[in-house]
Amino acid sequence: MTIEDLRLRHSVRTYTDRPIPAETIRKLNAAITDVNTHEAGMHFQLQTDDPAPFQGFGRSYGMFSNVRNYIACVADTSYSDYMERAGYFGMQILMKACVLGLDTCFVSGTFSASHVGARIRVGEKLLFLITLGYGSERKQTGLSGILSKLTHRNSLTPMDFLDTELSWEDICLHFPMLLQGLEAVSYAPSAMNRQPVGILIKERTSTYNPVKPSEKKSKKKAEQQQNLAAMYDSLMAEAATDTTAQGDNNGSEPPLVLQAYVPAKKPDQLIDLGIAMYSFQVAYPGSWTWGNPATFHPLPDE
Ligand SMILES: Cc1cc2nc3c(=O)[nH]c(=O)nc-3n(C[C@H](O)[C@H](O)[C@H](O)COP(=O)(O)O)c2cc1C
Repeated sequence: MTIEDLRLRHSVRTYTDRPIPAETIRKLNAAITDVNTHEAGMHFQLQTDDPAPFQGFGRSYGMFSNVRNYIACVADTSYSDYMERAGYFGMQILMKACVLGLDTCFVSGTFSASHVGARIRVGEKLLFLITLGYGSERKQTGLSGILSKLTHRNSLTPMDFLDTELSWEDICLHFPMLLQGLEAVSYAPSAMNRQPVGILIKERTSTYNPVKPSEKKSKKKAEQQQNLAAMYDSLMAEAATDTTAQGDNNGSEPPLVLQAYVPAKKPDQLIDLGIAMYSFQVAYPGSWTWGNPATFHPLPDE
């Protein structure tokens, strides 16, 4: 997977009758089984030749035509961060489909959930679909291709996703591939094209939290929780400083932290967060600790 694969992807909503070859279906199923086997609570299911969820669906946000194949993202809601992880692994599977030559689109709203032919067990929830097939609007090249790209995305530049008070020089010293990561995030699809994800870089000792408390909580409760979180963070930061001072980790704990976040804990935005995290990681080798904010750990230099 490369950043160029991310750049070339765009949502396709109109499909031709061309069937997906058996070999492509086999490879997709292998990618899905791999995720379902190794990732707790994930239950992605490929449905072929099943137009029911999109039949008779009228004009609304996004118009779909002739969708016959899709992947249902079903997740066990008892696992923490299931939304974010569903977004991450959904994007991983979607990009696999793109590399196999398929056109795709995430869909969380404009389909009939009761007509989805996937198995949903007790405690599980259908979060979104990924439509698959060969689009009749694809293969645009030259100027029409560029125009189509522009209309598919906001005019946000990679730097618009960066949230920091530190100098660019400082940041690049610690995260040399940041610009590529930000570019990858700028290509990530998001519900309603909101592009809500921010990439925060702060001092390890900073207690700043970019995530606003959930709107459902009372203001007082939210304030109490924020104070507690700030107290916890500063205790952790103190402990980290102590350890560094004692030389327990040879002073190797990086002084800056890179986090991905969505500003509020809206469920659909947590899916967007996971999608952006996968995209970032395609460009910048490393791993994430789940959460909102989620923390990135770059792969150490060889
Ligand atoms: C979680 C999620 C849900 C989405 N739901 C819908 C949907 O219900 N209907 C639709 O037409 N497009 C949907 N989209 C597609 C977005 O509108 C699309 O990704 C965005 O406009 C950016 O365009 P691009 O994918 O071509 O870059 C969804 C995308 C995401 C990530």
